[in-house]
Amino acid sequence: MSAVPSLAVSQRPARHDSDGLLEPGLRTALLRRLHTDHTTSSRDYLAAARRLLEELVADRRIVAGLELQRREGGYARNLLAGDERVGIWAMVWAPGAVTCIHDHHCSCCFGVVGGTVDEIWYRAVSETHAVAEAEHARGPGYVACMLPSGPNLHRMENRSAGDAISIHIYGYDHNRQGSSVHREYLALEN
Ligand SMILES: [Fe+2]
Repeated sequence: MSAVPSLAVSQRPARHDSDGLLEPGLRTALLRRLHTDHTTSSRDYLAAARRLLEELVADRRIVAGLELQRREGGYARNLLAGDERVGIWAMVWAPGAVTCIHDHHCSCCFGVVGGTVDEIWYRAVSETHAVAEAEHARGPGYVACMLPSGPNLHRMENRSAGDAISIHIYGYDHNRQGSSVHREYLALEN
């Protein structure tokens, strides 16, 4: 397995490029790691995405040199590298940031670089409502991968006093679709 190339030296101040904030050579190298013989809904792809993500979250330098967007009280998405098949995103979670309850139309891998993000898992009881089933605090180094076939119904939240940063790898074309979310749900008290 090849290592993540030149993470320590290849960063530049943020450019707002439609294909990602990382410099082109690094973008190409990272995306190549995700190009398997199978679709981005395959276990083969998912294993490759997990390996890459484990390396990316283990080294904070991948995001330390970038001027990531941050949104007070919410979360901000920063595309690091993307093509027609996959996108690698850095997410900055300010204190109080919370997503809707959602599932995904594509494969979804995420890992925590710094800080803590809470992940609340839900079970759908209809096409519109879901009940909470479990909560987990995800800290630095944590990595998870999900297929669109599920289970992948969750909500993310930063309940801590400081920012958190996570990296996400999604199997969709960022130029064609606005996000990885398939459907949003409302919480049903259990
Ligand atoms: Fe999600």
